Amino acid sequence: MTIRLNGRAGSTALALTMMTTLAACGEGSTAPTTATATATPTPTPTPVDPAVQANAVVQQFLRLDLASLDNYAAPALPAYYDNTVDDIDNTPANDPVTDPIATLGRVLFYDTSLSVNDTTSCATCHQQSIGFDDDERLSTGFQGAQTSAHAMRIGNIRYYAPGDTFWDRRADSVEDQATQPLLDASEMGWSNNGGLAALITKMEGLEYYPALFEFVFGDTAITEARIERSLAQFQRAMISSDSRWDRAYAQVFTIGAPGRALNQALPGFSASEQQGRALFMTGVNNGGAGCVACHQPPTYALNANSRSNGLDASETVIFKSPSLKNVGQSTFFMHDGRFTTLRQVVDHYSDGVQAGPALDNRLQQNGVPRQLNLSEDDRVALVDFMETLTDETLSGDVRFADPFIR
Ligand code: HEC
Ligand code: HEC
Repeated sequence: MTIRLNGRAGSTALALTMMTTLAACGEGSTAPTTATATATPTPTPTPVDPAVQANAVVQQFLRLDLASLDNYAAPALPAYYDNTVDDIDNTPANDPVTDPIATLGRVLFYDTSLSVNDTTSCATCHQQSIGFDDDERLSTGFQGAQTSAHAMRIGNIRYYAPGDTFWDRRADSVEDQATQPLLDASEMGWSNNGGLAALITKMEGLEYYPALFEFVFGDTAITEARIERSLAQFQRAMISSDSRWDRAYAQVFTIGAPGRALNQALPGFSASEQQGRALFMTGVNNGGAGCVACHQPPTYALNANSRSNGLDASETVIFKSPSLKNVGQSTFFMHDGRFTTLRQVVDHYSDGVQAGPALDNRLQQNGVPRQLNLSEDDRVALVDFMETLTDETLSGDVRFADPFIR
């Protein structure tokens, strides 16, 4: 045994010696060239950090540090934001959220210069403190005219699988939506004032945009596609995962639990919140209110296959709903803002659903609108439960706040 080991060691040693010799030969032949090259060092110019360069301009107008961007691309998400949530994410596969582009989107979102008369930004009608909704039934545009619909909350907009936007789903994606309020004759006004070309010319004259576009995209070109992408990325970063419901659910969620443990008692919930949760999560055939079939936890974004909810008789338009996260911070509900309390919303589902071609089957029984006939306690409980979806982290997060020095 010893002999065999020695023998092996001997041959290895020999092989190593040969390799070392060969390597030494190779090195020997190139050594003089290397020596000559390094003998005359050229002075390296100090590289200009693009972030520092852009900061010099941008920081006169904005509270931003481009050398240390906020994290939009990779937020820490709870374990239950897993593949079931990824499946309904409308982020284009070739355009994931990045920190620089979302940061530019934040500036655009809050810039009143993007309206014709410097009065109105996206944030005028989508106010962060109330879940990016408007506290008016109809919103007021740049010249005082009112919109024809109530504004929509924006949290979790990325989790609506078809990706189309507006109550009646008329825009195909978050990108397509972004230029519409800019153009809209009553909202920000460019359609009657030279179109996007005029807006872009205006932006080129605002010192911070050429600097920002160059920092973010590598050149100063301001284009419609870049504006849309930036606004879309900023809005897709508005993820809600820190409501009281989230914090409680995080404690009971276990991967692989039946029904994802959605219909379990939640720690810290009052009896009424618990009852409301059970009603929300339980199907109508099992004594619940069946809300979960359309407003899907954990994002509470609308199920892609939902049709309308019977607000008006003979309705033909198929409406969507924004995520119910932060719905308790809203003061007007539904596409026309007809309800002013969540209680009125619950009353609608209990006994107000109207028949019509757009009405979803889930709100009908034997071809007629279903009456849930909820008790007083049940109605209070559903409202109490919806209040637990308020995410004050989202409505207070500095990453989504106004960056302008005003
Ligand atoms: C004058 C008020 C107003 C302004 C300004 C405004 N919005 Fe809106 N926004 C609304 C209203 C009202 C709706 C719903 C309109 C509809 O469906 O017909 C809406 C809907 C949306 C939606 C659709 C949400 C969904 O879930 O489908 C998005 C996204 C949005 N706005 C983003 C923006 C962006 C980005 C800007 C700035 C470029 C902006 N808004 C400017 C009032 C406004
Ligand atoms: C068939 C699918 C469906 C079911 C089931 C359903 N909803 Fe809705 N919900 C919608 C649609 C669609 C809208 C938007 C309607 C509109 O504005 O035209 C909506 C809107 C809402 C809104 C208003 C959102 C806003 O931003 O104004 C609330 C709150 C709401 N639903 C709660 C509930 C509750 C509570 C239940 C259970 C009792 C429920 N929904 C059951 C589809 C559904």
